[in-house]
Amino acid sequence: MKIVICPDGEQATLLTARVMEDAIRQQPDIALGLATGRTMEKVYAALVQAHHDRGLDFSHCQTFNLDEYVGISASSAQSYRTYMNTHLFSRVNIALSATHVPDGMATDLAARCLDYEKSLLACGGVGLQLLGLGENGHIGFNEPFSAFTSRTRVVTLDPATREQNRGMFDDNLDHVPYHAVTMGVGTILDARRIVVLATGAAKASVLADMIEGPLTASISATALQMHANCLVITDEAAAATLSRRSFINHLMQHDAELQGLLS
Ligand code: GLP
Repeated sequence: MKIVICPDGEQATLLTARVMEDAIRQQPDIALGLATGRTMEKVYAALVQAHHDRGLDFSHCQTFNLDEYVGISASSAQSYRTYMNTHLFSRVNIALSATHVPDGMATDLAARCLDYEKSLLACGGVGLQLLGLGENGHIGFNEPFSAFTSRTRVVTLDPATREQNRGMFDDNLDHVPYHAVTMGVGTILDARRIVVLATGAAKASVLADMIEGPLTASISATALQMHANCLVITDEAAAATLSRRSFINHLMQHDAELQGLLS
């Protein structure tokens, strides 16, 4: 893992958007793996701005979202499809046909999960996967005990996740689905490059587990330690409990790739 600690969440967000912008410029037909959540809203706002201000071109990209709630229709305000259309797809030059979000309303969910894997393979795999971090350590909706080899599938949501995401459902826990479709941990690890954005004090404990903790299926994000090209972008608040902080600072000063990112 390469780790960058930014002074605050805003700078961490802008750096994440810049990494994505550079990747799109280097490979205009890149397949992007995309994430949802409050943290990502500002990343997408920065990408929309890059599209308007610097002509960042999405017209050759394909996108694959990590997850979607089961039983929530694509057109519903709470769906991740609506989230993506609202925050990114309708605001840049990408055809909706090039954007993929799992279908949480499919009658044969298992078959659609297999199709999702096939679509990923057909486009040559994800070139850059953007990831947020759930407070329970999930990536996508890979809740505790997800196998590191898991693929796209239906999962049961952790009560902690339902609680964390109730804000999207009129703050009413009864309205939060119990199930979701998510790319698996194994699917995520297949991406050629991963960038994780985790900011704010609420992520401090799980970020330390992800970076320094032992590998455990109880915290899916620890699987990222096995990925050969994973960049973690964070802020001072989330990095507060990292015990190897001085070594991370040392790397940030002396690693050529990190220097390039920070310049
Ligand atoms: C949801 C998504 C995750 C995301 C997480 C983080 O649970 N399924 O992919 O990482 O939210 O959310 P936030 O950025 O709101 O903390």
